[in-house]
Amino acid sequence: MGQWIWINGSIMPMGDARIDVQDRGFQFADGVYEVVRVYQGRCFTLAEHLDRLSKSAEAVGISLPISTSALAEQIRKFVVLESLHEGMIYLQLTRGVAERNHVYPADIKPTLLFYASLLDPLPPVGGGAGFKLLPVPDERWRKCWIKSIALLANILAKNQAAAAGYDEAIFIDDGRCTEGASTNFFAVIDGIVATAPKGPKILPGITRQVLIDVARTAGVSIIERPILESEIASATELFITSSTREVMWVSHWGEREVSKSAGPITRKLHEAFRDWVRKDTGLENPHAIPASPVPA
Ligand code: PDD
Repeated sequence: MGQWIWINGSIMPMGDARIDVQDRGFQFADGVYEVVRVYQGRCFTLAEHLDRLSKSAEAVGISLPISTSALAEQIRKFVVLESLHEGMIYLQLTRGVAERNHVYPADIKPTLLFYASLLDPLPPVGGGAGFKLLPVPDERWRKCWIKSIALLANILAKNQAAAAGYDEAIFIDDGRCTEGASTNFFAVIDGIVATAPKGPKILPGITRQVLIDVARTAGVSIIERPILESEIASATELFITSSTREVMWVSHWGEREVSKSAGPITRKLHEAFRDWVRKDTGLENPHAIPASPVPA
């Protein structure tokens, strides 16, 4: 974790920050959040994340206490203050502090905070151990497009997967693969990449959207359509995406081995994604691994 925290407009040492016990984020998980990737001190797709934040906030009736452009400026300055090289910004907006009551008062003031966390550099395209996915029933609410801090169902699913030796849980809703506990899910079937359509069943991932956007230039066919669990047996490649993991190839679906290494379509899309990271950040080599440890 970084040294500092930005909380309601003030920057202070992380250890000095205090959240009221009556904050509705703490008592009711009444809030929304974002995770923004930072490559070598540059935020990736920051505008897209803040746009999704304002949509999530609006959907639950919390007003952002600052404009998204001013917030972007604050985040960029904060990244410099933290000397954040490789990492992420975690941002949380809650409804604010009020005496515990399911009904919230009209004049409540939201709590907005963000801080930095360090991340290890990612392996090269196609590198690292493939992910093992465990299919689990989707027991979440029906507004998964809102990036809510109420993540209990996701946490239980991910921990169930981890306890059984898996890297990610993939939610199955009425025979359809929706998404991972903290990732979007893709399957290559008959040479075409499929991913669940936007809507109430998935979070519209920023990484997911970049992949869809770059697929055309990469010469890869991609469609947004429901993926049936029964189709997974015929998938030649599976992969998952998120801001923190980019694109991760999948070795196992349950006990079945899908692939021994990253497949050609997964690699192609991941290369195209990394080209986009270069463009978006303006960095020549955003994935360069530093020769010596980078100070926090
Ligand atoms: N998770 N689906 C879910 C349920 C997620 O929580 C996430 C992100 C994604 C991928 O979205 P994006 O590409 O915008 O990161 C999909 C973040 C990283 C988290 O909760 O830590």
